[in-house]
Amino acid sequence: MSGSTLGELFRVTNFGESHGPAIGCVIDGCPPGLALSEADIQAELDRRRPGTSRHVTQRNEPDAVEILSGLYEGQTTGAPICLLIRNTDQRSKDYGNLLDTFRPGHADYSYWRKYGVRDPRGGGRSSARLTAPTVAAGAVAKKWLQQKYGMRFIGWMSALGATDIPFEGFEHIPNNPFFAPNASIVAQLEEQMDQLRRDGDSIGARISVIAQGVPAGLGEPLYDRLDADIAHAMMGLNAVKGVEIGDGFASVAQRGSEHGDELTPEGFLSNHAGGVLGGVSTGQDLVVSIAIKPTSSIRTPRASIDRAGNPSTVQTFGRHDPCVGIRATPIAEALLALVVMDHVLRHRAQCGDVVLPIAPIPAAAPR
Ligand SMILES: Cc1cc2nc3c(=O)[nH]c(=O)nc-3n(C[C@H](O)[C@H](O)[C@H](O)COP(=O)(O)O)c2cc1C
Repeated sequence: MSGSTLGELFRVTNFGESHGPAIGCVIDGCPPGLALSEADIQAELDRRRPGTSRHVTQRNEPDAVEILSGLYEGQTTGAPICLLIRNTDQRSKDYGNLLDTFRPGHADYSYWRKYGVRDPRGGGRSSARLTAPTVAAGAVAKKWLQQKYGMRFIGWMSALGATDIPFEGFEHIPNNPFFAPNASIVAQLEEQMDQLRRDGDSIGARISVIAQGVPAGLGEPLYDRLDADIAHAMMGLNAVKGVEIGDGFASVAQRGSEHGDELTPEGFLSNHAGGVLGGVSTGQDLVVSIAIKPTSSIRTPRASIDRAGNPSTVQTFGRHDPCVGIRATPIAEALLALVVMDHVLRHRAQCGDVVLPIAPIPAAAPR
């Protein structure tokens, strides 16, 4: 099965299956000399982990990471870094009744049509469990980018279903199970989730993520534009049905006099572009949003067919996230960090010696 590698110079290859003995990734191309420990990676994995609140799946995976290679005396050597996460709570019997049918909204039917093999155990390679190695690799990228450039990657939930979550402040994000940047809305979100659970149904979400401190010049036109690679990476995340850069689809209703970000010696006056022009970063914050579909596995009976083509009904009683978007925030941050990391290394390789007559203008003009 191909399609498991992301990046050119910072190259992450993901392996394993949700109900196999382990999952993980190999990072090739990490610069040497980065101080790295399992604790650095574990902190990020713990933000994605299942079973952390009543609003996410109760699957109890500790997601403990082991670094198998690429380090000497606590520093990266430049050799491939292998990160391993053992599966400990598979419970394949939860999926036994699904062996012969196709779950609506899942990859069962399309994988079977493609590969001719049906692995019913939690979706096999299509499982969102495979996003844990993405988060682990993202932790390495985040640490290097933070140390080298002072970059920060911050994600949050900006809508839960039809409920918009007004942005109040970054400080609220770690203090609630939704990654909501707003303390006063949390009780309403909890009630919404409890009602969904009573209904045996699920809901979608909108996740926003920004990268701060990104240098100008990242991205390679034509097909490796920074925004194209961000969209590619984000669409590689399970359940994502849309990606916006900057104002995204709102740009459709805007005028040029509103959308085009004006430049002054003190900085840009706005950031409708989301930090990318012509596929190359401007030095402003990268601003990305993703639309996540509602969880497909629900208690409500759904029509399907079996492998012989006969009608059947699917009803899921296994452990599932009623809103998969709740756990997607750290994954979106990791994906953005991986794309930026790769483009930083690529930019250094080709344009590291470029010198310009004026210094970069600040990301934003003082207001
Ligand atoms: C963090 C995360 C957790 C997920 N957990 C579930 C889940 O418990 N139940 C479910 O039906 N889908 C879940 N999904 C979504 C499925 O993996 C996904 O919808 C399915 O593989 C089909 O792929 P697609 O939606 O990308 O087309 C999750 C997605 C993410 C990002």
